[in-house]
This record gives sequence, C-alpha cells and structure tokens, in this order.
Amino acid sequence: MHKGLAIYPGSFDPTTNGHLDLIERGSKIFEHLGVAILRNMEKTPMFSVAERLEMLRELTAHLANVRIDTFDGLMVEYAKSRNATCILRGIRAISDYEYELQMALMNRKLEPTLETVFMMPADKYSYVSSRLVREVAQAGGPVRGLVPEIVEQRLREKLDPAYKLRDERLLEALGQVEREKEKPEKKRKKKS
Ligand code: PNS
Repeated sequence: MHKGLAIYPGSFDPTTNGHLDLIERGSKIFEHLGVAILRNMEKTPMFSVAERLEMLRELTAHLANVRIDTFDGLMVEYAKSRNATCILRGIRAISDYEYELQMALMNRKLEPTLETVFMMPADKYSYVSSRLVREVAQAGGPVRGLVPEIVEQRLREKLDPAYKLRDERLLEALGQVEREKEKPEKKRKKKS
C-alpha cells in the first residue's frame, strides 16, 4: 500500500460503475484516497455539486479510507493544499490515452512533485462514461448495470419528476384493487 493521500479528480456527473470500480481499486492501493469533484464545470451539469457529493458519499460509505470533497480552479493547487502525493486517473481504452497523457504532462509541468497514476477499471465497464449514461437516460433508455442503483433512481427522478408521483398513485390504485378483491363476494355485489 502506498503511504499518503492520492486524489481522484473528476466531474462525476453522474458517478458510474466504472468510477466506483476505480475508487475501490484505488482504496486498496493508497493509504488515503480523496475523490474530488470539480465545481466549476464549463457546461451545465445534470446533477448539482451537492447532489454529486451526496451520492458519492453514500456510495463510498463502506470504504474507510475514502473521503469525498469538491474543488475549484487548478487541480494541482488543490492537491498540493491537501498534501497529496499522487493523482489517480482511470484509463478505459486507448481513446482515453491521448487526453489523459496531455493532462498528466500538463499537471506535471504545473507541479513536478505530483505523480499521476493510471488504473484500469474492470473491462465490463470499458465503454461506460458519464456522458453516454446521460445521453441514454435522457433518451429514455435503460442504464441498469452501468451506474449504481441510487444513481439510476436519481436519474429517473431527475428526468421525470412526475415519475415518483405516478408510481405512488399506481401503487395506491393497485392497493385499492387488492383491498376490493379481499372483500366478501356479497359485499362487492351490493356495492355494484
Ligand atoms: O471526469 P473528467 O471530466 O474527465 O475530469 C476532468 C478533470 C476534472 C480532472 C480536469 O478537467 C481538471 O482537473 N480540471 C481542473 C482544472 C485544471 O486543473 N485544469 C488543468 C488540467 S491539465
């Protein structure tokens, strides 16, 4: 196990099973792992920083050496302020490599004492990205197995706020049908 703190930065909009897989792997390698959510994203995020923070905290509650935080501005500045020694990033496929290499080298230029460490998530998540999850969910497609269950639920609520209400009404209606069935035959006939 590597002593000290590693920072795993990202947008996490939303957290996927690939992210979670990497966090779990990282928590076994590093003494402490700080997952850091970028606050000043260029595009409008689907989930607010508070929502992403809450979900990630819930999802990593079982990992004693993992803490979730947010940051603004330069990532290396944030990592330095926390006395981190490493940056953790995931590489899924060769397509990630160019961007990650550029970012790692720029970060090294900005702060030569910080090392970037790459890890691969499980191959079953190699095609999973937050962007594609958002796209599929927004088009009404299934994201089961790609994101943790609580994220799936939040996506459903976010994309269709009426969904929950509809579910509740449906359950209530089904309950009425069941209660009706339980009534003795005569009573039911009288009523009709
Ligand atoms: O999950 P993402 O969107 O791939 O994460 C990208 C992230 C947040 C790690 C990167 O954009 C970042 O570190 N942004 C903070 C600003 C910064 O330090 N930029 C210089 C990177 S070379």
